[in-house]
Amino acid sequence: MEDGETNMLENGGSWRPDQFIEEAIAGLNDTVGAGERVVCALSGGLDSTVVAFLLDRAIGERLVAIFVDHGMLRAGEAAEVSELCGQRLRGRFVRIDAGERFLKALRGVTEPEQKRKIIGAEFIKLFKEEALSLGDIAYLAQGTIRSDVVESGAGTKAAIKAHHNVGGLPEELGFKLIEPLRDLYKGRVRRVGEALGLPAAILRRQPFPGPGLAVRIIGEVTAEKVALLQSADAIFREEIAEVGLAEEIWQFFAVLTGVRAVGMKEGARHYGEVVALRAVISEDAMTAGWARLPFDLLQRASERITAEIAAVSRVVYDITAKPPGTIEWE
Ligand code: XMP
Repeated sequence: MEDGETNMLENGGSWRPDQFIEEAIAGLNDTVGAGERVVCALSGGLDSTVVAFLLDRAIGERLVAIFVDHGMLRAGEAAEVSELCGQRLRGRFVRIDAGERFLKALRGVTEPEQKRKIIGAEFIKLFKEEALSLGDIAYLAQGTIRSDVVESGAGTKAAIKAHHNVGGLPEELGFKLIEPLRDLYKGRVRRVGEALGLPAAILRRQPFPGPGLAVRIIGEVTAEKVALLQSADAIFREEIAEVGLAEEIWQFFAVLTGVRAVGMKEGARHYGEVVALRAVISEDAMTAGWARLPFDLLQRASERITAEIAAVSRVVYDITAKPPGTIEWE
């Protein structure tokens, strides 16, 4: 890893978030000329929120943050993002509700990389429409971090997945790109966020893929499947939070496997969906181990998911490390 940085080392040593912030602000002010404006693509995750707050400090009123809600976030998340960023950035925060538009674009699509590409392209179209309506903007800021760069193949590793960030936007819109967190791994980004006064809910937010639940629904994405997965995922999250494990686990979520299995519900044979639960321990998402969750917790999550969601007949737990698996299922 570059300069020997790992999340473990990130918490020690001489690197200081306040110093990073000072230097980043100076750098941003050097780059962005007086009177020039910057648009930031906000996903509500840690990385892009840190970028938005950093830019807020550096250039204030010349920042506009656009949050494209593709309708495939976790339950309650779009509202949380809007509340936090709406308050902090006031008139400089724009939310686009585009769930229906994304679902329409994804109709009939089952191939994972195709889903990513469609979501990326739709995102660019929407973002472009909005950004152009905002007038003269020179720069696009995004929350690319070190592991995105490495996993996308810009480093030494082969490209693994077509990551959906806002790749392609700068060229299309004639923006110049700003990526202030490009050299940091997650641990340092979190420390920068803390120093910038981000609330705990965002600081603790686990990494979430740009294409959202679309890559956790195997096969075609529909509104019904998104709603089902959001419910199962919310139950799993609640149960993990309940036992105080949320912060110890790198990522945990539910997957709608697309497999159907037979079961018994209310004394009758029931043919329903199989939900997989995934919880992984990692330092940087490049490798991961499956979390040894307490059996009681898994049992409660399974009981609640099958009882509270009529369409689900079974719950399974994924015990695959990365490698050979990946963290996401698609
Ligand atoms: P995998 O599944 O490749 O994931 O082990 C590694 C990390 O990347 C996240 N991920 C994505 N992030 N767009 C993103 O922005 C994507 O298409 C994407 N696919 C995976 C994943 O959640 C994990 O943190």
